[in-house]
Formats: sequence, structure tokens, C-alpha cells
Amino acid sequence: MARSKDGSIRSACQGDLESILEILNLEILTSASNFHWEPRALAELEQEWVAAQGSYPWLVFEHDGVLGGFAKASAFRSKQAYGWTAEVTIYLAPLARGQGLGQVLYKALLEELKLRGFHLAIGAITRPNAASESLHSSLGFRQIGVLPEVGWKMGAWHDVSYWAKQLNDGPADDRLLPEPRA
Ligand SMILES: CC(C)(COP(=O)(O)OP(=O)(O)OC[C@H]1O[C@@H](n2cnc3c(N)ncnc32)[C@H](O)[C@@H]1OP(=O)(O)O)[C@@H](O)C(=O)NCCC(=O)NCCS
Repeated sequence: MARSKDGSIRSACQGDLESILEILNLEILTSASNFHWEPRALAELEQEWVAAQGSYPWLVFEHDGVLGGFAKASAFRSKQAYGWTAEVTIYLAPLARGQGLGQVLYKALLEELKLRGFHLAIGAITRPNAASESLHSSLGFRQIGVLPEVGWKMGAWHDVSYWAKQLNDGPADDRLLPEPRA
């Protein structure tokens, strides 16, 4: 656990999932930053969290027993060659935004991915989202492309910009050797 910005950053545990869901569902219902239209169910999030255990980090920021936000990684694509690339995302509770916490939490996630031997982190950002684009840019991601009008949410088409950051160089690290898949 790391002390940071008057709180702590640690791995998410099962007991955090309700708070994570609350932050996520608020965003789903009020913005286009997440392309789900309907709130997610706890059981579904639990499945995702269980599947990520041992492979992809999920981190939370906690202050005085309250969860201020989470950052997590997931598989970018399922085919084996993509096994060293992780898709990353971050959501803060509204009151926790705009104070530099995004920087601290996302940086911790990227460091963890680097330690685990991942080669590349990819962020996908629905436009417009100046805060997220600025966050990715300041942490060394570079914009690698835009899918124009790829999603419909809240009565409008939205572009999604893709951002990439290299974490490790050299050949693929055997620790992450994926299970054979179709
Ligand atoms: C995107 C998000 C994680 C950013 O975290 P944050 O703690 O608010 O951002 P920070 O305070 O660390 O600032 C990061 C950068 O964004 C800039 N920024 C913050 N809020 C901004 C805003 N509303 N408009 C423009 N830039 C903004 C900061 O100036 C900073 O830039 P710098 O590094 O060049 O100084 C947070 O706002 C959030 O959770 N938003 C809702 C969910 C979301 O959109 N998640 C991203 C999905 S891709």
C-alpha cells in the first residue's frame, strides 16, 4: 500500500466492488466517457475482477475509508500475441477530480504493469474529454489514432481516440505467456 495525496493506493479487494460500481455507474448514466448505456450489475463486475486476479492490476485510492477512484487494466484483445498489451482506464468520484489524483493513481497502475512485464498500455478516450486526454499526454502516452464517430451515446456520435505508452522494451517477458486460446 502506498501513501499518496493524503490517502492510500492499494489493490482493489472484493469489498471495494460496490464503491467501484457506484463511481462507474454514475459515469455511465451521466456521460459518454463509458459506452455502456445501462448501469452495470455487481455480479458482472465481480466476474471481471475475479478474472483479472493474478493477471491485470486493479488499484483503488482510499481516503478516510472512502473510495475516491479506481484504475484498472484489462486484456486489449484475446489473441495470444496481444498478451503483453493491456488496456487501461481510470475513474474518479466527482469530488476527487481536478486535484492531481488522476496522475498519482494512473502512474501507480502503469508502474505495476511495467513491473509485471507488460510491453504496452493502451487508453481509449471518448471525445470530448479534455481532462483524460491531458492526463494521458502528461504521463507519456502518445495519441496513435482516432476512430471517428464510432459510438452513439446521449444523442450524439462520439469519436474515440487511442493513446499508447510503451512500458518495457526488449522481447516479450515469459512471465506473461498467455494460455493458448482460439
Ligand atoms: C479523467 C480523470 C481520471 C482525470 O483525473 P483528475 O485527477 O481529474 O486529473 P488531474 O487533476 O490528475 O489532471 C490531469 C491533467 O488533466 C488536466 N485537467 C484536469 N481536469 C481538466 C479539465 N476539466 N479540463 C481540461 N484539463 C483538465 C490537468 O490540468 C492535468 O494536466 P497536466 O498534467 O498537463 O497538468 C478524472 O477527471 C475522471 O475520473 N473523469 C471521469 C471519468 C473519465 O473520464 N475517465 C477517463 C476514461 S478514458
